[in-house]
Amino acid sequence: MLFSDVTGSTHLGERLDPESLRQILARYFEEMKAALEAHGGTVEKFIGDAVMAVFGIPTLHEDDALRAVRAALEMRQRLERLNRDLERDRGIAILTRTGLNTGEVVAGDPATGQTLVTGDAVNVAARLEQSAQPGEVLIGEATYRLVRDAITAEPAEPMTVKGKDEPITAFRLLEVHPEAEAVRRHLDSPMVGRSRQLALMKQTFEAAAEDQACHLFTVIGSPGVGKSRLVQELVSAIAGRSTALRGRCLPYGAGITYWPVVEMVRQAAAITDEDGVDAAAGKLAALLPEEDREAVADRLMQVIGLREATAPAEEIAWAFRKLLESLAEQRQVAAVFDDVHWAEPTLLDLIDHVAEWSREAPILLVAIARQELLDVRPGWGGGKHNATTIQLEPLSERDCEVLVENLLGMALLPGISKSRIAEAAEGNPLFVEQVLSMLIDDELLRRDDGHWVPTGDLATIPIPPTIQALLAARLDRLGAEERQVIERASVVGKVFYQSAVSELAPEPMRPAVGGHLMTLVRKELIRPDHSDIVRETAFRFRHILIRDAAYAGMPKETRAQLHEAFAGWLQRVAGERSPEFDEILGYHLEQAYRYREELGSMDERARALAARAADHLEAAGRRALNRSDLAAAQALLTRTAELLPVGDPRRSTVLLDLGWALMELGEFARATAVIHEVKEAARTAGDRALELRAKLLEGWRWDVSVAWEDRAAVAEQAIPFFEEHEDDMGLFFAHRILAAKHWTHGRSAASAAELQRVIELARRTGAPHEAFLLHWLGGIHMWGTTPAAEGVRRCDELLAEASGLRLAEGSILTARAVLAAMLGRADEARASAARARPLLEDLGGVLSITCVGSRIGLMEEILGDHERALETMRAPVLALDRLGEKSFFSTLASQFARVLALTGRLDEAEEFAQKGRDASPMDDWASQITWREALALVEAQRGNLEEAERLAREAVALTEAVDYLPQMADAWSDLGFVLRLTRRKGEAAEALRQSLSLREAKGDVVRAARVRQELAALA
Ligand SMILES: Nc1ncnc2c1ncn2[C@@H]1O[C@H](COP(=O)(O)OP(=O)(O)OP(=O)(O)O)[C@@H](O)[C@H]1O
Ligand SMILES: [Mg+2]
Repeated sequence: MLFSDVTGSTHLGERLDPESLRQILARYFEEMKAALEAHGGTVEKFIGDAVMAVFGIPTLHEDDALRAVRAALEMRQRLERLNRDLERDRGIAILTRTGLNTGEVVAGDPATGQTLVTGDAVNVAARLEQSAQPGEVLIGEATYRLVRDAITAEPAEPMTVKGKDEPITAFRLLEVHPEAEAVRRHLDSPMVGRSRQLALMKQTFEAAAEDQACHLFTVIGSPGVGKSRLVQELVSAIAGRSTALRGRCLPYGAGITYWPVVEMVRQAAAITDEDGVDAAAGKLAALLPEEDREAVADRLMQVIGLREATAPAEEIAWAFRKLLESLAEQRQVAAVFDDVHWAEPTLLDLIDHVAEWSREAPILLVAIARQELLDVRPGWGGGKHNATTIQLEPLSERDCEVLVENLLGMALLPGISKSRIAEAAEGNPLFVEQVLSMLIDDELLRRDDGHWVPTGDLATIPIPPTIQALLAARLDRLGAEERQVIERASVVGKVFYQSAVSELAPEPMRPAVGGHLMTLVRKELIRPDHSDIVRETAFRFRHILIRDAAYAGMPKETRAQLHEAFAGWLQRVAGERSPEFDEILGYHLEQAYRYREELGSMDERARALAARAADHLEAAGRRALNRSDLAAAQALLTRTAELLPVGDPRRSTVLLDLGWALMELGEFARATAVIHEVKEAARTAGDRALELRAKLLEGWRWDVSVAWEDRAAVAEQAIPFFEEHEDDMGLFFAHRILAAKHWTHGRSAASAAELQRVIELARRTGAPHEAFLLHWLGGIHMWGTTPAAEGVRRCDELLAEASGLRLAEGSILTARAVLAAMLGRADEARASAARARPLLEDLGGVLSITCVGSRIGLMEEILGDHERALETMRAPVLALDRLGEKSFFSTLASQFARVLALTGRLDEAEEFAQKGRDASPMDDWASQITWREALALVEAQRGNLEEAERLAREAVALTEAVDYLPQMADAWSDLGFVLRLTRRKGEAAEALRQSLSLREAKGDVVRAARVRQELAALA
């Protein structure tokens, strides 16, 4: 959108009589219109002395924004010329101000002659124009992001717009770099992959030399896939041995037909803008053979515009061929025509002519084009013995990741985001570059201490505006029906079914859908895919961004209708299998509802859509919770809740489950907010059961140091109420708190008994928490009184029950690994750990992280490999620290500190022991003894024996009321360590004997043997 306005026109009106004013303005408008149209703009209207023009309507181009900017500058130049005349003739000058902006608009119906565009972007453009100073061009941020590589601009003061809270950012246009491409390419990062294609091109180059003949090599591929780059690499590789000429076809403009030829002739003869006609003619003549010198030079002078153009196309082609042949007599020639898809037929004929007729001269012609070339010239290169055409495919995912690394120039954390970016770009290097620069601009990637760190969720990466423009322009070239087909497909998703698209298409179009899909395949927008619904023909978008661009091209009203219609289709086709499709169905119904909401049509029908969407999403969310897929559960339940009106009792039930998922994920603040809402709702509705459940769930929060005694008190009060109302779900929440109290207080046997009850309740109510409970029981076997051999057996039983529950499986495997290590079965222990790791690491969440860090770390410690123990624990400790989680962190950090101390890394050990201490809740028994042990070991080795002994004895004292055998033994062992340094051998031996009997009770044969050795050494 471009707005331009004459400033001070009233002032002009005072100085001129109306007739002259009219004349002058008419001439002014004529000039402005010419400038706009030269760049493909459409003048919307003249209002008073203002001009409003649009680019991209009715036809979109990838470089519309750049065209508009160029047009604005040309308007300014034309105005300067006009003003020179006006000043001379009448002593006046016209001053204008201009505003430019890009955005989504609603265009009127051209059929009615109404092209008027409306939309937010239009208002912003008008506002920019009003704020510009006379002579200035202000561009909006959206436009700036599209063209900034091609212009020089400076930031202008932010300005406010009516109806918008945020001030808008604007830039003052200073200049446009001639010949800049719409999207800048980075030729500086190292080339990745493509060695096969490069080798083939080199071979062809050699062949041309060997045969003393002309070869035509064509590179076809989609925008940004790396065609120009590949050819550029070839040119540098052969630079020493050839004369390389390069020319590029331009997408629009006057006199562009021969543009690449003009560039090449000028390069070949080193003609510059300063050269006059004679100088140029002289330089050209020097290159040419005697025979036909005059005629050839004359035609070439015509092409480059230094002589009047009169020669027919055939003669120009002939002269150009003569030039190449003559150059090739000195050195082999490589002539590169880039962006040939924009070439006029005359230029294509010229390339063809050279390829066909050139004789006895080593010339490599390279043509670079996008797919569309084959639309206008399906037979391009075909049938010639000296022609090779290659199709350049996307880079492999691995190559893409390397490209990401090269471009960022430093490591990206963590690995997952690198592949996310590579995935979003799907092998297209231009997309990689643009996605990265967008992420950096939007501060979704931030530099942090030598790394790039994602600041938010990179799960869905939006389309960079430059790529959006590129793809939208590609789609705009489709026929009307093809366009409708691809839009309908985009509603279905990245993979779509032919019959779904047919169903969504208007009735009369349906028989033709198959044919249109084939055309889209040929145009490289989609490709056939295998179907996971039987008997359905499936296709896939070649690029997710193509899907997104097609989708973005539809009005919201249409999107709403199509999503709803597709949900209907899917439900019909899926039939019995519906539960599997809950998430997909929920998604489409949700979208249909959201668009209606945005359009302000919140009627009965819209509300029914919301309710249906919630049904499906809730079902899918519950299932995710059941499989401990917490991230998915959290997302699905959040969306479900958002679809249900506040006050709907269903909303509270969903929120309770959401609160649970959030707690497991360590998102305590959000969990608390969610539970708070439930409590409020329960109070308002007078629903005591719901209120109690919410309270109990809140009591489940591990990151606060509310004493477990107090939480248990709430549970004990609630139990009679729940029993009276036979509320098993409530009982489940209550008993779970009791089990946790015993557990935290170090009474494993009592906890196990309570837990057995909780598991029964969970099974009875179908509460989706079984995985967690099985995990817990496994932990009790490991930490508690169960002897190791028995523990391994119990873990195997639990594993059978946990089958399919990832968290439980992973966790129980880690418990099993520890127990097997105690028995000295190292290989078996490590095998269990190796099975557990991928299960847990994939899940995320505090529990999974802790299981890996704490238990696999402990396993290594038992097996005697302290270095591996530290290596295993470090990342989980840091991860929990980042999450701000307390209760698991306090234990794990202390445990980590203890191993650090055992390996003599005292400073670091002290640091983590203090962190563990500061994070330990008062009644978290395990943390409280472990940080003391760690600090005791540190102080002892520093020679502060008194302090060390005090701490070690405190730790031992804390073990008195508990039955966690391995940790009790640790405390005694650590006291023994300290006492040995104080040289009180008798007391040290006594402590070690205590440890030994606990190790033996646990059946920890490995560490029992170790204690015996220590005892022997003392004696
Ligand atoms: N193999 C590669 N390794 C590293 N960077 C690459 C590679 N291929 C392409 N690029 C980079 O990706 C960007 C796009 O590549 P290029 O300009 O060659 O695309 P193109 O296919 O010519 O696109 P268009 O059709 O728009 O002209 C460039 O910045 C280029 O340097
Ligand atoms: Mg290119």
